[in-house]
Amino acid sequence: MEKCLIVAIADNYGIGIKNQLPWHIAEDLKYFKATTKGYPVIMGRTTYFSLPFRPLPGRKNIVLNLGGEDIPEACCVYSFDEAYAAAEATGAEKCFVMGGASVYRAALPEMDRLYITHVHTVLPDADVFFPVIDPEVWEEESRSETHVDPETGYPFEFTVYRRR
Ligand SMILES: NC(=O)c1ccc[n+]([C@@H]2O[C@H](COP(=O)([O-])OP(=O)(O)OC[C@H]3O[C@@H](n4cnc5c(N)ncnc54)[C@H](OP(=O)(O)O)[C@@H]3O)[C@@H](O)[C@H]2O)c1
Repeated sequence: MEKCLIVAIADNYGIGIKNQLPWHIAEDLKYFKATTKGYPVIMGRTTYFSLPFRPLPGRKNIVLNLGGEDIPEACCVYSFDEAYAAAEATGAEKCFVMGGASVYRAALPEMDRLYITHVHTVLPDADVFFPVIDPEVWEEESRSETHVDPETGYPFEFTVYRRR
C-alpha cells in the first residue's frame, strides 16, 4: 500500500495555531476531500478532535491515541504499525496521514508521497510546524498553477512530492 501524507504548509512551515488550522481555505478543503475520499486516513487524537465534522465521511478514520480514551465512532490504534495494518485491511491501494504535527514528524520517514498545499504567507503565531522538506529526499512531481484564496488573499499551490 502506498503511504501518502497530506498537509497545508505556510512559508515558515507553520501548520497550526492553538489546535486549529491557521486558515480557512475553501478550495484547499475541497482538494483535501477529493484527494482522500475513499481512502483510509490516519491522524493524531488532537487533530481528530479539532475536526468540525467527525468522523470524516466516506473514509476509514484511524486515530492514533495513546491516552486510551475510547472513540467508538473511529478506529483507535496505539501505534503506526497498527494504523497501517488497519489501513491495509480496507483493501485500499493507498492511505493518507493527515496530521497533526507530531504525527507528520513521526510518519515522514516512511512516506512514499507527500501532497502539500504550499500557502504563501508567514504565520508568526504558528505553534506547530511541519519538518523541512529535504530536496535530496523528495522530488517535486507536480505543482498546480497558483490560486488565490478570496477570503484570506493568500496565494497557494497544490504540489505532490515523491521519494527519490
Ligand atoms: N495544516 C494542516 O494541513 C494540518 C493538518 C492536520 C493538523 N494540523 C494542526 O496540527 C495541530 C495538531 O498537531 P499536534 O501535534 O498537536 O497533535 P496530533 O499529532 O494531531 O495528535 C497528537 C496525539 O496523537 C497521538 N499520537 C501521536 N503519535 C502517536 C504514536 N506514535 N502512537 C500513538 N499515538 C500517537 C497522541 O495521543 P494521546 O495524547 O492520546 O497519547 C498525541 O497526543 C493542530 O493545530 C491542527 O490544526 C494542521
